[in-house]
Amino acid sequence: MTLAELEIAKAESLKEISAATTGAAVEALRIKYVGRNGSIPALIKAMKDVPKEERPAFGKAVQAWRAEVEAALGAKGEAKVTEAKVDADLTLPGRWFGLGNKHPLSRVIEESAAIFSRLGFTVADGPELETRFNNFTALNTPPHHPSQDRSDTFWFNDDCLLRTQTSPVQIRTMMGNKPPVRVICPGRTYRRDTTDATHSANFHQIEGLYVDTKPVSLADLKSVLAYFAKEMMGDGVTVRFRPHFFPFTEPSVEVDFTCHVCKGKGCNVCKQSGWIEVAGAGMVDPRVFKHVGYNPEEVSGYAFGFGVERIAMIKYGIPDIRWLYENDVRFLSQLG
Ligand code: PHE
Repeated sequence: MTLAELEIAKAESLKEISAATTGAAVEALRIKYVGRNGSIPALIKAMKDVPKEERPAFGKAVQAWRAEVEAALGAKGEAKVTEAKVDADLTLPGRWFGLGNKHPLSRVIEESAAIFSRLGFTVADGPELETRFNNFTALNTPPHHPSQDRSDTFWFNDDCLLRTQTSPVQIRTMMGNKPPVRVICPGRTYRRDTTDATHSANFHQIEGLYVDTKPVSLADLKSVLAYFAKEMMGDGVTVRFRPHFFPFTEPSVEVDFTCHVCKGKGCNVCKQSGWIEVAGAGMVDPRVFKHVGYNPEEVSGYAFGFGVERIAMIKYGIPDIRWLYENDVRFLSQLG
């Protein structure tokens, strides 16, 4: 083939491509010109028969042909796609994309923030990596307390750990603000627990703290938690306090909610007791006030802390804590 013949063949091929009207015709032309045994690859193979001095010009012309043919085929292909779209039956129902919904833990956290905000609480935040001072010392927890042990807590070094509770945010809040303070702090916490149906090494708590220069009493704490219990779990749910010990509160209590299933009558969920344990709480210990530079003679307050997983599990009837972390849509979509 001479250069002149090549130009004629090229013009012919482009004309054919532009005249093709069906996908099959375009495909046939692709095979004819640039397919493995097509005319352009055949020309490249035959290059060795072209006289040496003509070879560079000829080679260039063949490459140009190939490029133009491919561009023309490509343009046809795109045009076909657009045509196919227009041809589709526009009255067919659309494709259904399932709606997402919030994770149960996010729901409990957001709902809690909304409930406490109606009582004047704002949301405070703190880091998950804490100092020994904020997580233990300022919270009146001595070095020999079991929670400080290496087997209970994830330590990075002598002073730095993954917080075991959201209570260090009490310390941060008081150190950074003058009383009165009224905050809740939702967040992740860590303990060296083996994971089973009710334990996880990483879980969530919501801490609450109220400190004022006006006298604050255990009755205030109880009324706030009773309001929270009713708003979160429904009418007929209230709280009871049982004496307990926490290093950072005195007196300290464990807080039970009325079982929301039997409303206190006794059932399988509450193991026939009518009550479900949900939180720890108490009046802030004067030693904690001293650590943060507050005068215990001038201020008083209460603190409480509850597990977000625990509330979610009772509220939604979730039997296994692990379901909350497995991201299985069959589970998550049921709470939509
Ligand atoms: N931090 C305690 C715990 O994790 C709960 C608590 C918070 C108790 C505030 C009293 C006051 O068990």
